[in-house]
Amino acid sequence: PTPALIDRFGRHVTYVRLSVTDRCDFRCVYCMAEEMHFLPRAQVLTLEELAEVGRAFVELGVRKIRLTGGEPLVRRDVLQLFEDLGRLPQLKELVLTTNGSQLERLAAPLRAAGVARINVSLDSLRPERFRRITRVGELDAVLRGIRAAQAAGFARIKLNAVILKHRNEDEVVDLARFAIGNGFDISYIEEMPLGVIGDHDRAAAYYSSDAIRRDLERHFELVATTETTGGPSKYYRVPGTASRIGFISPHSHNFCGDCNRVRVSAEGRLLLCLGQEHSVDLRHVLRAHPGERERLKQAIVEAMQIKPKGHDFDLRAQPVIMRHMNMTGG
Ligand code: GTP
Ligand code: 5AD
Ligand code: SF4
Repeated sequence: PTPALIDRFGRHVTYVRLSVTDRCDFRCVYCMAEEMHFLPRAQVLTLEELAEVGRAFVELGVRKIRLTGGEPLVRRDVLQLFEDLGRLPQLKELVLTTNGSQLERLAAPLRAAGVARINVSLDSLRPERFRRITRVGELDAVLRGIRAAQAAGFARIKLNAVILKHRNEDEVVDLARFAIGNGFDISYIEEMPLGVIGDHDRAAAYYSSDAIRRDLERHFELVATTETTGGPSKYYRVPGTASRIGFISPHSHNFCGDCNRVRVSAEGRLLLCLGQEHSVDLRHVLRAHPGERERLKQAIVEAMQIKPKGHDFDLRAQPVIMRHMNMTGG
């Protein structure tokens, strides 16, 4: 029998997030500094190495793989990776998190490659504000991308909105209306302190999930559910609509206790927790022992022993994790 991935706290790891590049065409204020240094090409896993890592995880019982970035769709030839992973028969869900900038062009081929669901980051529906949050993003291109994903037949599209006071907290209801009107799910996210990002004050910008829920409940009836998509969102239903409204609340409602996931950074570090540095260098294993999948699997199995209990994010302190979000895609 396959050795399942189980950590010291009895948590089963069945979900892996693969960051396929640290690069991004946006510079969201909560994610990146204005000036970023990206990894030299040789330090980034090749698409073949990423596929090999995916295969190893699936052989170890992982059933859901999410490709993230940076922005995964800016990586050249990334469709090849989706196709390779999409062919793994034991994989239940191949999913993607994207900023949407390239979706207009890529939604249909992604669907053909077997991508089951797409999550699109969307923090504002106002073009100027969208530009200020992403520093360079063009709202209209993202909206065209979302429409292309709908047209390509993606049944469940989820929007991700990081809500920040004085930036977009007044759009909580508009974003929900947009999601409901289009039959999308939406998750509201509390910002996490990863990396030093310049003059954006994370503590001052904190807007809790409970505050968001109160704002929504002035306009919609929210009914708590036990539904899950295998990620950290706690979902509510709005009766009479197809949408689920989710809350990702690392600060106000810690979800580490039922963590089922690990992530692999763009340079091949297996990170056991988003909010800690415990990691294993899979790139070293891949390059020192090419083609030896059992060795790779052994390294992954052993890594479960150092998966920490959870994060200890503190928005008021200087960030302890110097790694920016673009290394892991969240
Ligand atoms: P679904 O499969 O649709 O449930 O998506 P997901 O929530 O697993 O992934 P997505 O890429 O949409 O991430 C949404 C937010 O959840 C991002 O801000 C991630 O950083 C955050 N997130 C996902 N997993 C974890 C986790 O293990 N810990 C923390 N702190 N945040 C996480
Ligand atoms: N805190 C919370 N969410 C973040 N994201 C990026 N940086 C952060 C952060 N510091 C979100 C993106 C995207 C998802 C993968 O992570 O908006 O939707
Ligand atoms: Fe790019 Fe995503 Fe980071 Fe925004 S949150 S800068 S879209 S990687």
